Amino acid sequence: MRDRFEIVVPTLFGLEAMVGRELYRLGYDTKRTENGRVTFDGDYDAVARANLWLRCGERVLIKAGEFKAETADDLYEGTKAIEWERFIGKGNAFPVKGHTTRSILASDRNSQIMIKKAVADRLCRKYGCERMPETDTEYQIQFTIIDNTVTLMIDTTGAALHKRGYRAKSNLAPVRETIAAAMVMISYWKFEEPLWDPFCGSGTIPIEAAMFKRNIAPGLLRSFAFESFSQIDKDTVRDIRDEARELMHTDVTLDITASDIDPAAVELTKMNARTAGVREFIKVSRCDARKIMPDKPCGSIITNPPYGERLGTVEECRRLYRDIGKSFADLDRWSFYILTSQEEFERDFGRRADRLRKIYNGMLKCNLYQFYGNKPKRKK
Ligand SMILES: C[S@@+](CC[C@H](N)C(=O)[O-])C[C@H]1O[C@@H](n2cnc3c(N)ncnc32)[C@H](O)[C@@H]1O
Repeated sequence: MRDRFEIVVPTLFGLEAMVGRELYRLGYDTKRTENGRVTFDGDYDAVARANLWLRCGERVLIKAGEFKAETADDLYEGTKAIEWERFIGKGNAFPVKGHTTRSILASDRNSQIMIKKAVADRLCRKYGCERMPETDTEYQIQFTIIDNTVTLMIDTTGAALHKRGYRAKSNLAPVRETIAAAMVMISYWKFEEPLWDPFCGSGTIPIEAAMFKRNIAPGLLRSFAFESFSQIDKDTVRDIRDEARELMHTDVTLDITASDIDPAAVELTKMNARTAGVREFIKVSRCDARKIMPDKPCGSIITNPPYGERLGTVEECRRLYRDIGKSFADLDRWSFYILTSQEEFERDFGRRADRLRKIYNGMLKCNLYQFYGNKPKRKK
């Protein structure tokens, strides 16, 4: 699997640095970080590892080419000049999708048609056929045209990476798995300390926390588009998956609690945790977040309360924030990491965050408010 290329990992806005850090831990240096994407150099081995291990990235794309285009002709010629036969075989399907932003070529649909035609023309000439049959394995082509720069990529992921495979059913307003993982990784939670999500919903944050600390590769439960690519050596992929199973930490003790006021959410969390293989590490109970009583002096609350967008009214949410602001005030050695889109959150909670980080949950701008617990007083 030695063919090398640039690999692009699209991310939710705000998670680029987290993905860069994850890539570094996997042994890859970031080449470029832009809004919503991180690029690095790699081969098919890197494609397999990135898909299997990235907790905060949305997908893994092979960059086929990049060029400037201001006219339909530029787009056609630039696309046709790319060595598509390096990736796409004679029988492979190659649907095209993408979008344009701040560019002269402003139509997504027209750009998509032009790119499809240029790739088809190139491949027909290379393979000596009149039209491509497109009956075999799919290589999804994705394009972006941003500020007149066309980037053409091949998707290796399939269903986006946040679809881990453990959350078959979900409640009304689940946070994306990639954001939940980022919240845990951003926090200073140490695994000998307790972690509590008092608004657990479908359990995403506690599950991602347990998977992270047990070093469970987030992609172990699912398959990826690249696994049917002809360039992929099946034995290597099997070895990478086997290695991931061996790298799981089996000897960790975790103190993770998930609670929610809604009994259906409690059951859902239990079911999802079981599917993810981390049920035994998470205590799940029904409880009003305003009344939680941790029995340890310090720990981390990492949570995503209702924000009045999809659950409850804004006024109800603000009252809830005021209530938890008062009840959490007693937990002075606990740290809180709270994700919400409500701009007034600090005022309602009654405390200014020590740190604030913008994260986009899709199109919804949220803030991760970080409040650090007091350090224990030194004995004189
Ligand atoms: C935005 S959702 C959390 C989603 C969750 N992070 C997930 O990934 O599924 C908010 C949750 O808060 C719960 N909730 C609302 N009021 C509550 C309260 N007073 N105490 C505990 N849970 C509450 C709701 O039942 C809902 O499951």
